[in-house]
Amino acid sequence: MQANSSLPLAQVQISLAERSYSIFIGSKLLGQALTYQHLPKAATALVVSNTTVAPLYAAQLTQALQSHYAKVVLVTLPDGEVFKDWPTLQLIFDGLLENGCDRKTVLFALGGGVVGDMTGFAAASYMRGVPFVQVPTTLLAQVDSSVGGKTAINHPLGKNMIGAFYQPVQVVCDLDALQTLPDRELSAGLAEVIKYGPIADMAFLEWIEANLNALLAKEPTALAHAIRRSCEIKAWVVGQDERESGLRAILNFGHTFGHAVESGLGYGQWLHGEGVGCGMVMAAHLSQRLGLVDSAFVERLTTLVQRAGLPVKGPILSATDNAGRYLDLMRIDKKSEAGEIRFVLIDGPGKAVVRAAADALVREVIDACCA
Ligand code: NAD
Ligand code: GLY
Repeated sequence: MQANSSLPLAQVQISLAERSYSIFIGSKLLGQALTYQHLPKAATALVVSNTTVAPLYAAQLTQALQSHYAKVVLVTLPDGEVFKDWPTLQLIFDGLLENGCDRKTVLFALGGGVVGDMTGFAAASYMRGVPFVQVPTTLLAQVDSSVGGKTAINHPLGKNMIGAFYQPVQVVCDLDALQTLPDRELSAGLAEVIKYGPIADMAFLEWIEANLNALLAKEPTALAHAIRRSCEIKAWVVGQDERESGLRAILNFGHTFGHAVESGLGYGQWLHGEGVGCGMVMAAHLSQRLGLVDSAFVERLTTLVQRAGLPVKGPILSATDNAGRYLDLMRIDKKSEAGEIRFVLIDGPGKAVVRAAADALVREVIDACCA
């Protein structure tokens, strides 16, 4: 595909046999009919967005889709992690049924990871599965959540606990959309970019360290490289372990502590990427206490997370037994087995391992890392 773009169009392939698809990365993609030329044919396209993103980008997208679909419907959800729930998911099903959508209808997720995860889950279950396209508009969604087919909603007791593995048929990462992203959200996305270094590619970590100021300034060439390399690493992992029977768990570096922060404080208090940022620092400390990395590595990662504008100390979740509260929350994690928490740890820079750790050691880390 040729894009009318100021940067060369990059394409990353997710190779999963009949579920394979392309990630397009470039500028001026979202509002171009050409971007969507190879999608499945259908009478109707249904775009799901939210009250923040729809006014910015829905008109461009729906106009482009009108070249391919006779009817284009927009469903606008309330904005926020707190709405990643059953009643809000129902709004998507309402829109599908009220507009007579059939099993060929193509869904488009226009927004960040919340819209993407919910639209994917709706696509997985509407009429037992309809095609969907990810059009991610946050950095976090472009480097992580739109790729790989994890879809979910939250439960009050645990993050992303109800969902399905369901791959999109295409991902469209338009760099221009990131220009309207608030700084705090950009930093949250950088957490998921940074994570790919320690788990898989220390050369990429060095590149992030050298180019962090350009990324924070939303310099398009730097963003394009960060998104492309992140998607390549994620494609390499997902291509080997689509349903997380092993390797894919490494993509959750920082998430065990981070999810505890998100659900412990109440969804939406800390951003997902903020939880992951300080969660990576806590997981690095745990790795050090287990003798897997040295203190220089922990300091290096902490400095980068802090420079990215992310918290490096966890919040206090309980005045009486803070570490106990973290442990209780972390036991409700999809990686837990028979109540035993399994952490993604760094086993020497650039390599991750998933393993359990003694509660006493985890308590020490939490006590040292919370303020
Ligand atoms: P988000 O979807 O809440 O978006 C962040 C905020 O930015 C929202 O207020 C949104 O309306 C706004 N926004 C989005 N695009 C914008 C733009 N271009 N300009 C201005 N504002 C914009 O949060 P997120 O960080 O994108 O995603 C976090 C979610 O993703 C969490 O629910 C997390 O669990 C999930 N996630 C899923 C996966 C996965 O593999 N499926 C991976 C990582 C995270
Ligand atoms: N974000 C973690 C994963 O996709 O597996």
